[in-house]
Amino acid sequence: MSQAIDLYPGGGLRGKTHKSRWPAKLDVLQSTSGLLLGLFMWAHMAFVSTILISKDAMWWVTRMFEGQFIIGERYPGIVASIVAVVAVLFVLHGVLAMRKLPANFQQYKNFREHRKTLQHEDTTLWWMQAVTGMVLVFLASVHLYQMLMHPGDIGPYESADRVWSGRWWPLYLVLLFAVELHGGVGLYRLAVKWGWFEGKNPDRTRTLLKRLKWGITAFFLVLGALTLAAYMKIGYEHRHLAGERYVPARLQTNAPANPQQ
Ligand code: HEM
Repeated sequence: MSQAIDLYPGGGLRGKTHKSRWPAKLDVLQSTSGLLLGLFMWAHMAFVSTILISKDAMWWVTRMFEGQFIIGERYPGIVASIVAVVAVLFVLHGVLAMRKLPANFQQYKNFREHRKTLQHEDTTLWWMQAVTGMVLVFLASVHLYQMLMHPGDIGPYESADRVWSGRWWPLYLVLLFAVELHGGVGLYRLAVKWGWFEGKNPDRTRTLLKRLKWGITAFFLVLGALTLAAYMKIGYEHRHLAGERYVPARLQTNAPANPQQ
């Protein structure tokens, strides 16, 4: 005697015919972690790019995050805690996203055929997000580990020396493109997926959102490239003194630089 089994997404194959809510819950979690990471990256770029204002401005931001102006002393552990939270979000988001990737060559081939047949820009954008996401798994992990283990080595000279003398700039360059393309597409897809700003004419909204997305991506790519170039220039000029910490002119004494300054 045969028993008919209906298949539902997330329902499994063991004769259970109820719909599971888990795929939807995991989708909400994936979207929320992605949104938080996207917002973090905007803030991150704002703080890191203060080097374009001046070395003192970036020094001030660094010390502010270390709590110096409130506690009176540097506590790089505060920065490490922020990195730890971002790292947890990053891993969570990555693991949740991996559910959606093709798991073997046959699945990849099927997806490629669909993409070619559909010729829909949003499907191509999804693929771009999958590829840049994989790039991020490798490159952002390295950066996060460095920041987690050396949170006290952030500053105008400290960062610039790492970028130039420490030869981190090639990694940052690729990371910059990967994160801006990934984040831009991600935020756009969030808006489309959950129907934010849909209004009376969803097609028109989608066109506007797409333009906004490319505008935001271009803005952050230019800002990020200028910022990276500034760190490279400072690092190059400071290469013979690499390792020396930055001390604002008004705090300089003739005594050797104090790491607590
Ligand atoms: C997913 C997480 C992250 C990504 C994708 C990321 C990406 C990047 C990129 C692309 C740059 C180069 C900047 C440029 O091109 O203008 C950069 C630099 C930098 N990032 Fe991040 N970042 C992440 C998390 C963090 C966290 C959590 C911190 C510390 C709290 C941090 C601190 C810095 C600093 C200080 C720099 C300046 C260069 C240096 O000191 O090495 N980043 N990051």
